[in-house]
Amino acid sequence: MACTESDYAYLRELVLKQSANLIDPSRNSLFDAKLIPVVRRAGMSNLHEFVRLLQSERPTHLHRAVAEAMTINETSFFRDVKTFNLLRENILPALVERRRSARRLRIWSAASSTGQEAYSIAMLLAEHFPETAYWDVKILGTDISQRVVEYAMAGRYRRLEVNRGLPARMLLKYMTRHEEEWQISPRLRAMCDFQQVNLCGPLPSLPICDLVLLRNVLLYFSQQDRGHVFRAIHRLTATDGYLFLGNAEQAEESTHHFQAEFSGDTFFYRPVSNGW
Ligand SMILES: C[S@@+](CC[C@H](N)C(=O)[O-])C[C@H]1O[C@@H](n2cnc3c(N)ncnc32)[C@H](O)[C@@H]1O
Repeated sequence: MACTESDYAYLRELVLKQSANLIDPSRNSLFDAKLIPVVRRAGMSNLHEFVRLLQSERPTHLHRAVAEAMTINETSFFRDVKTFNLLRENILPALVERRRSARRLRIWSAASSTGQEAYSIAMLLAEHFPETAYWDVKILGTDISQRVVEYAMAGRYRRLEVNRGLPARMLLKYMTRHEEEWQISPRLRAMCDFQQVNLCGPLPSLPICDLVLLRNVLLYFSQQDRGHVFRAIHRLTATDGYLFLGNAEQAEESTHHFQAEFSGDTFFYRPVSNGW
């Protein structure tokens, strides 16, 4: 039996509660396409029946599986070249200089998807800031989806994924080929940790970070949830640290907590000291 409008309304509400992701009713057909494997795994023959099952149970792994299946995990190595150029030429040199006596760096890829963002930062550090090899450096990648967190932990990428954004020289230097796949080197893997975290829920204990990448995820949140996320991230950003958003993302809700700065036509944020 086909899904009714009230089935879709229930699914939209479920996703909003579980992951804070807003799905516009005009995109209802995404449920039909993306939930097929979840419906099958639950032993149901169609989405309408599956919705009845969800409605009859208290929130369980099935409800989480729906929210997880609806996430958009699009990412790539060195996504947005201008941002990575700015990090390499301006932001990381300044941070490395300021942390030279502490010899410690904490970087957070919040909404890290399958890990390419975290590993791109690890490659930048290894390639251009060799002294940090002897420092206490951790790059933390977090995402609401356990599936992509496990993918990132494995650090193994398909040809199509390494062909997107990763210069051939870096590929050969920092990854090894295993038949059709490429494995991140143990050295870079050791710099990165991955963890499942819902940015819109209560955050677990996380370190104060020198650099936070919150890119291409805000667009899925309501204005209220964006405000919550900025407050939480402000608390976890070093007073002299940096925040990066996605290129096309606006951050009106951030103004109490972060101040925008421009370098060329690329912008980044610095925490304001009286953020609340
Ligand atoms: C489009 S990807 C962006 C990946 C990477 N930051 C980039 O810019 O390439 C968005 C990611 O945000 C994650 N996400 C969505 N809602 C989230 C939430 N409430 N908490 C944490 N991560 C979330 C999704 O699972 C997805 O992997």
